Amino acid sequence: MSLIDKLKWRYATKKFDHTKKLSAEQLDSLLTAVQLAPSSYGLQSYKVLVVENPEIREKLREAAYGQPQLTEASHVIIFASETTIDEALVAKYVDNIVETRGIDREHIAGFEQTMVGTVDRLSEDQKITWSHKQAYIALGVLLTAAADLGIDACPMEGFQNGKFDEILGLKEKGLTASVIAPIGFRSADDDYSKLAKVRKPKAELFIHI
Ligand SMILES: Cc1cc2nc3c(=O)[nH]c(=O)nc-3n(C[C@H](O)[C@H](O)[C@H](O)COP(=O)(O)O)c2cc1C
Repeated sequence: MSLIDKLKWRYATKKFDHTKKLSAEQLDSLLTAVQLAPSSYGLQSYKVLVVENPEIREKLREAAYGQPQLTEASHVIIFASETTIDEALVAKYVDNIVETRGIDREHIAGFEQTMVGTVDRLSEDQKITWSHKQAYIALGVLLTAAADLGIDACPMEGFQNGKFDEILGLKEKGLTASVIAPIGFRSADDDYSKLAKVRKPKAELFIHI
């Protein structure tokens, strides 16, 4: 199947087959794709939680307006933005660049200053919004990779962020929930899988200049 055929195959899964679990390899491939997602400056100002615990998932389902995917999918992926985006976060990233690429810190002092300047210019709210945007890019990569691997997923923002933060202890971890994606395998009787995709016609969606 081509990538386009796989993107046609994928859909926001409403009903998962709760008896089917991702193998460790499938989960690892998906998480590797998420790890490779691009982000502004490469800062990756978010963390990704992989939730399997059934009791916690029951609570999350309640905080997601009872949506069944929370308990029926194989795993629930939660993208959570960092709440403190500061010079220390930038410095940690710079440490990683220095180590990964084996370069002197002075070589990228200008880059570090640029990043610090960007971060310092933003208000606390703007920082979180910026961080949420990065998390959504990672979500997009997850959805595409899942389609490629024949894994079903449902992107979801229909949940109460504050309650998710509470249930998962995110505040204490310096995080806040951005967006989530239960992943697993579709149930044979999920009627949504049979519906035609509704998308804007290309002539309406694209503007060629
Ligand atoms: C950011 C985002 C949030 C969404 N939230 C929900 C949700 O809470 N519950 C749900 O069932 N579907 C949710 N969806 C799925 C969309 O309704 C679905 O992607 C859209 O209708 C297009 O259909 P398709 O993905 O099946 O092609 C969400 C999708 C996105 C991208």
